[in-house]
Amino acid sequence: MTVSYADDLALALDIANAADRISLDRFMALDLVVEKKPDRTPVTDADKAVEREIRDRLAEARPGDSILGEEYGAEGDSSRQWIIDPIDGTANYLRGVPVWATLISLAIDGVPVVGVVSSPALGRRWWAASGEGAWTSDQTLAANTEPRRLQVSRVAGLADASISYNSLKGWDEAGRLESLLSLSRSVWRTRAYGEMWSYMLVAEGALDVAGEFDLQPYDMAALIPVIEEAGGRFTSVDGTSGPWSGSALASNGLLHDDALRVLSE
Ligand code: IPD
Ligand code: CA
Ligand code: CA
Ligand code: CA
Repeated sequence: MTVSYADDLALALDIANAADRISLDRFMALDLVVEKKPDRTPVTDADKAVEREIRDRLAEARPGDSILGEEYGAEGDSSRQWIIDPIDGTANYLRGVPVWATLISLAIDGVPVVGVVSSPALGRRWWAASGEGAWTSDQTLAANTEPRRLQVSRVAGLADASISYNSLKGWDEAGRLESLLSLSRSVWRTRAYGEMWSYMLVAEGALDVAGEFDLQPYDMAALIPVIEEAGGRFTSVDGTSGPWSGSALASNGLLHDDALRVLSE
């Protein structure tokens, strides 16, 4: 029997609306409060307020489910776990760069089955649930704000591929800079888009491969259903599945094994 996650997706989309109102309201606010976490990365009052709102709404709508969020940690031991990154791209958010998003995912026994990536400053949203396809809406296109179905690219050879490596430093610190350079020599062009942006471009078919290191489950969980339901593939840079390995390699599927091979040489 196929399980439908349509209700959970609808809930996540509804909660994303509330999250967007808070994050947009505080974007570029003159009194934005910025602190440094123990790992020296920034966090703002908006990150905390958005996660609080999402957690409160989930607790009310799905009281038995467990939650993992970047700012307030893990609670509950249900196999149904909501995974939240209240603002993916805090560094952009606090400097006025519009590339940031709220990420909301539902994972069952560690497998993400619902993903919502909501980027109100870009006017974009991407979402998916297992078996329901991947979708996007673009409020910046006056002629076409209706949701449209996402489909990855059909680029089948690395020589024609566009890739994003997101963070050069991350590849270097993982000892994989040489692998990345090999892949860069094999492809048509390289970019470093950062945050959730490159993965959503893969889901849209605008980019063919994206990868990076030093990621947490909440950085990745919501991206996975969107990429997979758009026909793409998501693994670690070493080729293992699941969002818990600390690295990400997303592709249109056709290029995945070739990219993994070059990266492992
Ligand atoms: C960051 C983003 C970024 C990645 C960093 C993350 P945050 O998340 O996902 O793309 O390279 O490793 O920490 O802190 O802005 O939610
Ligand atoms: Ca993040
Ligand atoms: Ca974050
Ligand atoms: Ca952070």
